[in-house]
Amino acid sequence: MEMLEEQRETWGSRGGFVLAAVGSAVGLGNLWGFPYKLYSYGGGAFLIPYILAMFCIGIPMLILEFSLGHFTQRAAPNAYARTGRKKEFIGWWGIILGFVIITYYPVILAYCVSFMGFSIQGIINGGKLPWAGTGIEGVENAKTFFSQTYLGAIDGPALGSIRTNLIIPLLITWVAMYFCIFRGVKLVSKIVWLTVPLPGLMLVVLAVRGLTLEGSMQGLVYFLDPVWSQLAKPSTWRFAFGQVFFSLSLAFGVMLTYASFLHRKSDINNNAAIIGLADFVTSFIAGLAIFATLGGMAFVTAQAGAAVGVENVVDAGPGLAFVAFPYALAQLPGAPWWSLVFFFTLITLGIDSGFSITESVLAGLVDKTGWRRCIVLPVMSLVGLGFGLFYITQGGLSWLGVIDGFINGTWGIAFLGLLECVVLGWLYRIETLREHANERSDWQLGKWWNYSIRIFIPIILGTLFMWSLFDDFGPGQNFFKDAGGQWNIYNCVGMAVIAAAPVLAIIMSLIKGAQRDDDFTDSQNGLIVEAKSLGVLAFLMTVIAAVIILVTAKFSSSFGNLSGYSAMLAMALAIAAIIISNYVMDRYSTKTVRPSAFASWAGIIGTLEVSALIAGMLVRITRDAIVAETVSKASAKLSGTSYVILGAVFMIIVVGMSWCFYKAISRQDEEE
Ligand code: PHE
Repeated sequence: MEMLEEQRETWGSRGGFVLAAVGSAVGLGNLWGFPYKLYSYGGGAFLIPYILAMFCIGIPMLILEFSLGHFTQRAAPNAYARTGRKKEFIGWWGIILGFVIITYYPVILAYCVSFMGFSIQGIINGGKLPWAGTGIEGVENAKTFFSQTYLGAIDGPALGSIRTNLIIPLLITWVAMYFCIFRGVKLVSKIVWLTVPLPGLMLVVLAVRGLTLEGSMQGLVYFLDPVWSQLAKPSTWRFAFGQVFFSLSLAFGVMLTYASFLHRKSDINNNAAIIGLADFVTSFIAGLAIFATLGGMAFVTAQAGAAVGVENVVDAGPGLAFVAFPYALAQLPGAPWWSLVFFFTLITLGIDSGFSITESVLAGLVDKTGWRRCIVLPVMSLVGLGFGLFYITQGGLSWLGVIDGFINGTWGIAFLGLLECVVLGWLYRIETLREHANERSDWQLGKWWNYSIRIFIPIILGTLFMWSLFDDFGPGQNFFKDAGGQWNIYNCVGMAVIAAAPVLAIIMSLIKGAQRDDDFTDSQNGLIVEAKSLGVLAFLMTVIAAVIILVTAKFSSSFGNLSGYSAMLAMALAIAAIIISNYVMDRYSTKTVRPSAFASWAGIIGTLEVSALIAGMLVRITRDAIVAETVSKASAKLSGTSYVILGAVFMIIVVGMSWCFYKAISRQDEEE
């Protein structure tokens, strides 16, 4: 298939692209999301699902998005359209979810802008931060400062009035993002030379400072000592996987769009690995910085006779960045300066993630409609800012948490990621993308990559999806109503947003675009269809498996229990169907032949059946698992296991990075 020759803007250099992608990946999610998720879901134990997700799903999918974006040279919707007209909506779906993020992400950046302002105020006031206070009352001070003085927060789904003190910071954020991207990616590739290394450096400084504080080890106990029982909870896995997607900016069309601006000859595979590792390092160092500092705070307060433990301050979500950490800093010398560094780090980390989403929405619209960038961008920024007003109301922060949970949970990206793999794996010639990536990369992807996109990743994401589904909607659960029978407004609105995304996406994809991009693979239709009988056979097997699953689910409580013979039979049938379909896809998907559609669908249904069966089994196994909610960690020493974990993480990072750089350098030598 010949690439359409055309002039598309490109990044200046390899460094420009890698930095921009790292800039998008590394953001508030790393410094604000990762540490508290790790803390809440099992400490060191959380790293197991996280690292698994990063290497088995994150990096392979990053390669998938890079390859598709680079191959088609289009932003998400048109990129998908080029693999088949009907697939365009997937791109829009991601973009719409991205748009939802872009309504609230800048709001958090706006908080950071304000808090940076408060830190400067503190410096001017001779070192006293507005939330300063000692002992446990000091924690209350910090809480009150954030939620009352600053946010004027009110309870419940009510919105209250718009906080006027947040308007200017929000405006500043949007204006800054606007000026970063208004000139296109050439300018972006210059800006990221500042917004990526700078916060990285500041994070290292924060970490070193934290680790040299007395008592820091005690903080790391909270971060690293594993609570293994948390692994039995679906939410642990859900959060680990969701965090990887969010952190790598996957499934929102961002990485795809960035890769569409890549130079024709640039590397794909190695860049993806480097970006994934860089993101992981940043998260981990952020965690060390935060918890070491909290440990230092615990030590200082204990010395002063009014002990405040790490567990007294750590709190999920925004509280960590805007209450716990500012409080901890206020206990330590040089408070306002460190606070300034911290919030400035957050802003520089977040801004390039923020504008990457804006860019992906923008490029999607521009590629489809052919409208001018200089008109779409200001309009879009205004609309984004307008929606942002919703979150700067008194009730805004709780809504922000809810919407974020939906977008980054099962219903948002996990599902979209699943769809992405299934569609590109089974309904498109994935081999084309592998060849495309390999032709220009420092190292080569084996066939395993095709199988992981087609089978492995969908089964994992599918299992996760159904596991949470059974969890949320299982017997005795009412997702839309509270215990008291009242409608749960948060869940209703969240679900409505989630459900609106695909509908809007389909509408967008039906609108006729300015360019006819869909011709790209139309030659597929004229091909000879092969392996019809094998395809039908596999399909029948999945149908029988489906019947068995449904009947088992209806008549027995042992649904999914693998020791049940019927479930075992269904599993065997589904696996056999996957193997047959996979063989058919491999063998008959060439430039002149097309495998029977039955085979594709048998593969898709088969993977979903396997997921459902595994999920059912997990529900049963973990139902009775006792999960200790809180584990006291009042020890001053890191356990041996934690040292092993720490060592293993650094090994992975150092070995991984060295390998990537070695590959990059040795290919350069070959070419010379
Ligand atoms: N990856 C970014 C972060 O970790 C957030 C982001 C999500 C950016 C989706 C772009 C798209 O903060």
